[in-house]
This record gives sequence, C-alpha cells and structure tokens, in this order.
Amino acid sequence: MTADPMILSRELSGSASSDVVLEAYADSVMNTFGPPKRVFVRGEGCYLWDAEGRRYLDLLSGLAVNALGHAHPSVLSAVTGQIATLGHVSNFFATPPQVALAARLSRMTGADEARVFFTNSGTEANEAAFKITRLAGRTKIIACEGAFHGRSMGALAITHSAKYREPFEPLPGDVTFVPYGDADALSAAVDDHTAAVVLEPIQGENGVVVPPHGYLTRAREITAAHGALLWIDEVQTGVGRTGDWLVHRAQGVQADIVTLAKGLGNGFPIGACVANGATADLLGPGAHGSTFGGNPVAAIAGLAVLAVIERDGLLAHATEMGEHLVASVDGLGHPLVGSVRGRGLLRGIVLTAPIAAAVSDAALDAGFVINAPRPDVLRLAPPLIVTSAQLDSFVAVLPGLLDRAAEVSTS
Ligand SMILES: Cc1ncc(COP(=O)(O)O)c(C=O)c1O
Repeated sequence: MTADPMILSRELSGSASSDVVLEAYADSVMNTFGPPKRVFVRGEGCYLWDAEGRRYLDLLSGLAVNALGHAHPSVLSAVTGQIATLGHVSNFFATPPQVALAARLSRMTGADEARVFFTNSGTEANEAAFKITRLAGRTKIIACEGAFHGRSMGALAITHSAKYREPFEPLPGDVTFVPYGDADALSAAVDDHTAAVVLEPIQGENGVVVPPHGYLTRAREITAAHGALLWIDEVQTGVGRTGDWLVHRAQGVQADIVTLAKGLGNGFPIGACVANGATADLLGPGAHGSTFGGNPVAAIAGLAVLAVIERDGLLAHATEMGEHLVASVDGLGHPLVGSVRGRGLLRGIVLTAPIAAAVSDAALDAGFVINAPRPDVLRLAPPLIVTSAQLDSFVAVLPGLLDRAAEVSTS
C-alpha cells in the first residue's frame, strides 16, 4: 500500500476489508477510543453498512447526533448547495445561514433577547459558557456528580468522573459537585458567591439518568435567589432528541445559558452557546473566538435539521417511538431488564446485572448499534426518524442478546 495520504485514504475506502483499515488505524490514529468495533463505509436512513457489506440498524445515531439518520436528502442538498455557494469566511464577516440559525436557536430557548456563540462541538459550547460565568464576576461553579460536559480543560473541570479528571489536574478550580437530582443539596451549595450552576436535564453519559420532577424548576429558583446563572447543558438532550426541542423549556424553565451540539448538525460539526439578555453581553470583542464556529455550511446543516424536524413532526414521533420502545421492552418481562428510563428517543435500559458491554457487543454481532454508558445500562438514541418496525426488530432479538451476554459473562 502506498504511503501517500490521499491515495491511502482512497485505497482504504475502496478496499472493502475491515482488516486493512483496522491495521492502518492502529498504526496511524491515537488510541483514545480503544480498538474500533467495526469499519463503517456507508449510511442511509437508520442503517449503516460495514466494509464487508453487512447492514446494521443504527440505534445510537453516532452518540445522539444523526437525528435525521444518514444521508438525509434535505441535509445533503442544503450542505452541498451551501458549499458550492460559500463554504467559509472568517468571523470578521457575517453570513445569512449563521444569522438565521442564531435567530432560530435564540427563539428556541424562549428568551426575549438571547444571542449565540457558535462552536464546532459540545465541549467548545461549554467552554464558551464557562468563560461567560467567569466574566459574571464570580468564580464558584456548582456542577453535579455523574456529570459529563466534555474533555477540554474547562469542560473537564465540571465533568465529574475521577478517571477522566485526575490525569489532567490541576483543572480550573472552584468547582463543587453535588448529588444530581437533589434540590436540597443544590440549595445548600449555592450562595451569593456562586457564579453558575451547570446541569444536564438528563445525564446521558451517566446512563440516561432522569432527575426527579421539579428539579430544574428548583434549580432556577435557587440560582435566581442568589444571583447565580443557570447553565443548562442540552448538548445530548437538545434539538428534539427527547421529544421536545429542549427538555428544560418543556418544563417551563428559562435558563441563562444553554449549550447545544450533537443533533443540531446531523453529523456536521456544530455547537452553540446561547446566552440570555445581559449574560450574552459578557463575551465582548476579543473575549472569545473560533475560526470555524458559525461556518455557513455547518449553519445551513443546522437550519435544515430544524426545518425537517418541524416539517415532519419528528418531536411527536420521537415521543411516540420512545413510548413504544419502553412498552415493548417492558413487555418482554425479561429478568435481566430492570427498567427503561429516559425521554423520547434518549433511553437507558437498566439491567439487573453488569453485563451491558457484553450485550452491546452481542447486539453489534446481530446487526444493531447500541452502547453501554455504564456496566448495567444500555443506551439507545436512534435517529428521530426510526420506525416502530425497526425498534421492534431490536426488541425481538433483545432476549437472546441478554441471555447470550449473561452466558459469556459467567463462563
Ligand atoms: C451533556 C454533554 N455535554 C457535552 C458533551 C461534549 O460534546 P462533544 O463531544 O461534542 O464535545 C457531551 C458529549 O457526550 C455531552 O453528552
């Protein structure tokens, strides 16, 4: 095989052999994600195809990203049309898609005068939010046990897992973690020195953990009483994933800062930090920046995603499909299934034994992409266009997958 990178990439995509690609991966890509489980070469709708031509039902959507599935025609035509017209300009200049998407996202947060800082990822959206909180004149941040907000030094500082944090300490300081979902603990931790409380409305990476009803409302009351900002991280939950545009808005909560990414671009990298009123004024000229953030191609992808979700009634569909999935999995009455939690199409199947990784591997062998964010939780975040028949095809094989995984785990 040639060493020329362009030719190499062509050879790899045309080689139809996973082994060749995986060998080159091991030689050339940093090992941050562990060995890849498959080599995917094509996607369409809710399906992916591997290098050997085998088809998989994608029930994970690239970690809650491909809201409209793969190769959606509206995203495709919006992106190709934009890139053929104007692919990029620096942020010294404005473009119509950027401005249109900013206005649309501002409306989504329900604020009177929200404004947006565009990024390329959820981590960067949170990084921008973190900087805003510092400019509010206080440093103390309250975050939650189990929280995941990204892995840059700032986002890591508010991410709870010791495994992710410890190798990189010291991280930006003055962060206190409180138990997630416990409004009294939050109330005890927030004081007049608190800059912000940062919360996921559902903790996705922690295994799709849903806080008690009223928690976000209490968080709003507590922060307001102390002049602290409420920063809601909807990177995983936002843009229709749970059957609402935003989880906290569906509960009538108005945040000061909302961060978004994942589903917004359907795979095109884009993130957004949306701040409300005077909070949006804190990042002034020179305070922050991004070369690619707000790029017109990413912005048009975001606009296309939002338009299709609206046009095709995908919020209601996500709610309906989510409920269908819960009823079907519950209906199995399998002893290894404890419960199904989450909202819309962000779901965690809680197992009664720590065999989720083995079930996820068995699912892949059977042609279904899911993942295991915790040893006892399977996560499903299918495209919002998924059909009940597609979900049923997974539920039909689930008992066999559970039994096989239990067997492997005990042998
Ligand atoms: C709630 C939440 N915030 C932030 C992030 C980081 O986003 P990204 O991986 O796009 O940087 C994630 C990623 O899983 C997330 O789930």
